[in-house]
Amino acid sequence: MSEFVKIVEVGARDGLQNEKTALTLAQRKDFILNLMKTGVQAIEVGSCVSAKWVPQMADSDSLFSQLPKDPNIQLSLLTPNLKGLQSALAVGCSEVAIFTAASESFTQKNINCSIEQSFEKFADVMAAAKANNIKVRGYVSCMVDCPYEGAIDPKQVVQVSKRLLDMGCYEVSLGETIGTATPDRVKKVWDVCLSELDSRVLAGHFHNTYGMAIANIYQSLQQGIRIFDSSIAGLGGCPYAKGAAGNVATEDLYYLLSHMGFETGINLEALMQASRKIGQLLQRNNPSNYAQAYWQSHPA
Ligand code: HMG
Ligand code: MG
Repeated sequence: MSEFVKIVEVGARDGLQNEKTALTLAQRKDFILNLMKTGVQAIEVGSCVSAKWVPQMADSDSLFSQLPKDPNIQLSLLTPNLKGLQSALAVGCSEVAIFTAASESFTQKNINCSIEQSFEKFADVMAAAKANNIKVRGYVSCMVDCPYEGAIDPKQVVQVSKRLLDMGCYEVSLGETIGTATPDRVKKVWDVCLSELDSRVLAGHFHNTYGMAIANIYQSLQQGIRIFDSSIAGLGGCPYAKGAAGNVATEDLYYLLSHMGFETGINLEALMQASRKIGQLLQRNNPSNYAQAYWQSHPA
């Protein structure tokens, strides 16, 4: 039997948070319903953050409450603090993600506090999550480079990741936030992380600014990483990392993994339908090479 690689679809969160125009709740819901048909087993629905900071993610709790629940699909919300967690709890969300960074400056710009202060807020989130049996995923941005500080010491990445795992995160996703890394540098970070942490609790979250995301994922696979975040149609970026492109496209990730013999659970036709629909809605060309090749051989 082929080995399984878990894909976490982040297009509805990382993707839409960076769109100039906020989609309506009905449009976001329709998008997620299409994603739920693709066979992907984990979908980030949105973020319970300040709507003044990220208006595109407003009312993510309400959006969550309108979605059908499927035992085979883990839906989650980003929650930077207790207020966010309470919103997620109120709509019956069973998994949340907390997010910090290996860079002080990025943490400050992104969530308006230091790394240390972010952990103080997470302690409250974690206590409430434990009391309510909620799974918590962790994010560490700037695994290689920070948009404000440049290169980040891998020791800082492992330290922050370890702290998140020690406080109860079941998995930590390392964000290559600005898409500047090349596989040699990604290898060094994983080498340091894997000397202290189990590959089964680590995920890769690669942005594709310089077209290196797939190469970085290939490198990560060689080192035993089996969980990757991706975004349909390559949507995404972070409002606090100007110029950063979207995440690796789920279509390209699917192509790499399926041709390497990994199982993903993805239904290709449903994936491509969801990809086409969101591209049409956003009136945007799909940067995924696989999607472009697919549509040439499967004209609409
Ligand atoms: P703050 O201003 O320090 O917080 O923001 P505060 O506690 O002083 O509250 C200020 C206002 O925000 C108050 O409202 C609060 O009620 C409200 P006001 O009185 O002014 O009307 N507020 C909230 N509202 C809704 N939900 C909440 C919440 N908390 C406070 N949970 C805060 C701190 C974290 C809220 C703010 O900085 C924020 O919302 N930042 C946005 C962060 C974000 O969404 N970033 C993008 C996602 S992370 C990412 O993309 C990276 C990743 O993809 C990995 C990678 O690529 O590297 C994950
Ligand atoms: Mg991201």
